[in-house]
Amino acid sequence: MNILFACSEAFPFIKTGGLGDVAYALPEALKKLGDDVRLVLPAYRGVLEASDKIVELGEFMVKGFSVSYSFRLLQVTKKSYDTDVYLIDIPELYDRAGSPYCDEAGEPWMDNTERFVVFSQAVSLLTQCFTELESGNKWTVDVVHCNDWQTGLVPAFLKASGSSVKSIFTIHNLAYDGLFNYESFMQLDLPKEWWSGEFIEFYGSASMLKSAMIFSNSVTTVSPNYAHEICTEKLGLRFDGVLRSLGDKFSGILNGIDLDEWNPQNDPYIQQNYSTGKQVASSKRANKFALLKGTKLPQEDKPLLGFIGRLVEQKGIALICEILPELFKATNVSIIILGSGQSNYENELKKLAKTWPERLHLHIGYSESLAHRIEAGSDIFLMPSKFEPCGLNQMYSLRYGTLPVVNNTGGLADTVVNATLSTFKNNTASGFVMKNSDANSLLVCINTALELYTDKARWKQLQNTAMKKNSGWIKSAKAYRKLYAKKPAKTGKNSPEKVSQ
Ligand code: ADP
Ligand code: GLC
Repeated sequence: MNILFACSEAFPFIKTGGLGDVAYALPEALKKLGDDVRLVLPAYRGVLEASDKIVELGEFMVKGFSVSYSFRLLQVTKKSYDTDVYLIDIPELYDRAGSPYCDEAGEPWMDNTERFVVFSQAVSLLTQCFTELESGNKWTVDVVHCNDWQTGLVPAFLKASGSSVKSIFTIHNLAYDGLFNYESFMQLDLPKEWWSGEFIEFYGSASMLKSAMIFSNSVTTVSPNYAHEICTEKLGLRFDGVLRSLGDKFSGILNGIDLDEWNPQNDPYIQQNYSTGKQVASSKRANKFALLKGTKLPQEDKPLLGFIGRLVEQKGIALICEILPELFKATNVSIIILGSGQSNYENELKKLAKTWPERLHLHIGYSESLAHRIEAGSDIFLMPSKFEPCGLNQMYSLRYGTLPVVNNTGGLADTVVNATLSTFKNNTASGFVMKNSDANSLLVCINTALELYTDKARWKQLQNTAMKKNSGWIKSAKAYRKLYAKKPAKTGKNSPEKVSQ
């Protein structure tokens, strides 16, 4: 099948979080199963800089809210990466310093809505443009796989243009809803009657996320547990009614991890490679000492905690900040934190690092290499997220024998098995799951982990189980292929499903 994978970020070109990892690893897995998968991204400055060769394939027009944009369709290549990648090049929208979503000060770009409405429209147009390209570049798209709100309007634009290309939409995070107002909606080339609760209108605004739910042929999210959670009023962020009304058009498919990129056996970033078996403890110790080097933390083999992630409310940073002083007073642990995000969390962590320079090493910023070294050198990984659609870091941690402490939510609950007497007995225990989403539960969980850490035999058993867990992509890629091949449900003109908002 020919699949166009539309996304707002993708490793190794540009990545801010797990979405970038998925946009790399899922297409790779689908290609192994025989599909022709090609990627389309906005031509951000960072992507152009990360590309080795850039070829222009054509020039097209697309309409924004009040002006039209001409875009160049580029094809780029990068050494040791063989997926075809297309870029929508509109310099006034994408050629900027900063991240895909924020300026250099970390503030969201003011025109983000227009940037991604235009991107969505260009992707929809692209499915037709391929056939107009010079013969060598001609291609037919069977399915567009869209991801998160930034591509949320693709299915609506496809529908409005009468296209027969199928679309599937994956929700990586329901918290980002892509809202815009009535005036902007009216400026788009979409049927005006779609401004209605049955279609795109969502509590007085238009939502790109809701639009995708309505107009895609299939909707997925990134773990079965999160799929269940967001159909409830408690965690559905007002989308639960829409999601429930989708019936079996909506499902949860667990993310995998790229087993080559995240492999302690041949990870080029780490001091000593290792795999399940005897040398785990000694190799992890060597990696710990390499990680501690250059920090003010004691250069000793004491329990080391790790955290990597976006410093946003979702990730449970407030809980970590709350418990650290007590943890430092009561135990001998140290922690390494790598992340960037909201200034309130960055500042609070900076204060803690100043108060506890020999216990907390803080790296504000983004570092692929440090992320790998933290996974290999820490003993315990903290991921007390308030909610977590899937989460990849806990899976990387399992693979690196760095036992995760996680909240009982979303994909974390689907991937980590709490260490209890019975899960020890049946050899499924792989980490520590918090009872409640609060500071006390986090502290209790860390203390349980620290207690087991001193029991070398049991710790080894946990590491073995964790490291042997197969979290690769193939099973999930097969589930996506089933959806790609599914016959579209018959619906009336302009009316996908009856929706209760
Ligand atoms: P989310 O997508 O919500 O941010 P995930 O756990 O799914 O969370 O994925 C996060 C990905 O981003 C992981 O690959 C993680 O290593 C990476 N990451 C997050 N913050 C940083 C950072 N500051 N430096 C390096 N990698 C990071
Ligand atoms: C989102 C989610 C995260 C998920 C990632 C990839 O950013 O927050 O839980 O793992 O997307 O699907």
